[in-house]
Amino acid sequence: MTKILVTGGTGYIGSHTVVELQEAGYEVVIIDNLSNSNIQVLDGIEHITGIRPDFVEGDVTDINTLRKLFTDYPGIKGIIHFAASKAVNESVKKPLLYYRNNITSLLNLLELMPEYDVAGIVFSSSCTVYGEPDQNPIDETAPIKPSTSPYGKTKQICEEIITDTIYAGAPIKSIILRYFNPVGAHPSAEIGELPLGVPQNLIPYLTQTAAAIRDELTIFGDDYNTPDGSCIRDFIDVVDLAKAHVIAMRRMLEMKDTDKLEIFNLGTGQGLSVLELLESFERATGVKVPHKIGPRREGDIEKIWADPSKANRVLGWKTEVDIDDTMRNAWRWQQKITPT
Ligand code: NAD
Ligand code: UFG
Repeated sequence: MTKILVTGGTGYIGSHTVVELQEAGYEVVIIDNLSNSNIQVLDGIEHITGIRPDFVEGDVTDINTLRKLFTDYPGIKGIIHFAASKAVNESVKKPLLYYRNNITSLLNLLELMPEYDVAGIVFSSSCTVYGEPDQNPIDETAPIKPSTSPYGKTKQICEEIITDTIYAGAPIKSIILRYFNPVGAHPSAEIGELPLGVPQNLIPYLTQTAAAIRDELTIFGDDYNTPDGSCIRDFIDVVDLAKAHVIAMRRMLEMKDTDKLEIFNLGTGQGLSVLELLESFERATGVKVPHKIGPRREGDIEKIWADPSKANRVLGWKTEVDIDDTMRNAWRWQQKITPT
């Protein structure tokens, strides 16, 4: 069985990816410092797949912890690197935390991969690297624009670090995946998104409002240059997103003649406005969400959606889950975790 290290594997996207990896027959070792996730996620993964992945509680910024991990779990062939700090607002207030966590962790992994014969790394990047696009849908050849947050800058810098390392001849391959807006939860409601404190992102705020944990959802602006005035995003189901990682890993490890570095957008190719998403949630669940229109949120991109045709063509991957099903799954998960 091919052994894969998943950093940040108890997190939101990581846990869904561990499920898909195990279901595809990979053996998984997770490292996570539980700074933004919970050990019980392992139970959820085990309930779905029947397999409890190996778990190391540790920090990827600590190179000695990683050395011990590679020694204790010999034969790791690939890494999926999710572990990172990801709150845009927090990154503006605590830039050093973001630069240290997100960059040091990648440096450590890249440094150790040749030493322990790890062939490839899949890296979690974001459509945030494009900034405000000149046109939509946006493909991988679009220019990288200056980022407005330290978080976004760490993704840009990490992409450059990987590129430079590979062009310098490191004996590794990499696939960089630029996610658009991941939403939803596993249909089993065994795993999902677990935001700490007041959610900053749309879906957890919306589902918490539907569950009466929050009074009211604020729509940040209805005066954008879009058909209904609210911002437009490409909301991608987290299980669809997770599946792309399995395909990327297989391609990287098993296909000999692929480029050493490849970059893919992961999105649906459809732009949906914030108000349309709210409508989808209410239609799919029959639950009304109290909401009001508020001012714009500083730093928000007006509209961005993916041209995923490269991933469709080269990876043979495309999104399958309908947005209403995604909303139902998000709601089922929220109901499961809402304290009663
Ligand atoms: P998450 O916070 O749920 O998961 C990240 C996990 O990494 C958490 O479990 C956290 O405890 C762990 N972690 C953080 N720093 C660590 C460290 N130094 N050592 C060990 N573990 C550490 O986030 P997510 O939404 O699952 O995001 C996963 C990746 O995808 C991140 O790199 C994020 O930047 C990227 N991404 C996320 C989104 C999104 O909207 N969720 C969009 C684009 C890109
Ligand atoms: N929004 C609201 N009300 C809320 C929360 C969000 O109206 O309470 C709106 C935002 O203004 C935005 C849209 O919903 O127009 C989506 O906002 P999110 O915060 O959910 O997502 P973003 O597109 O701002 O950013 C997310 C992640 C970033 C990542 C980016 C691209 O937070 O880390 O997607 O992948 F970089």
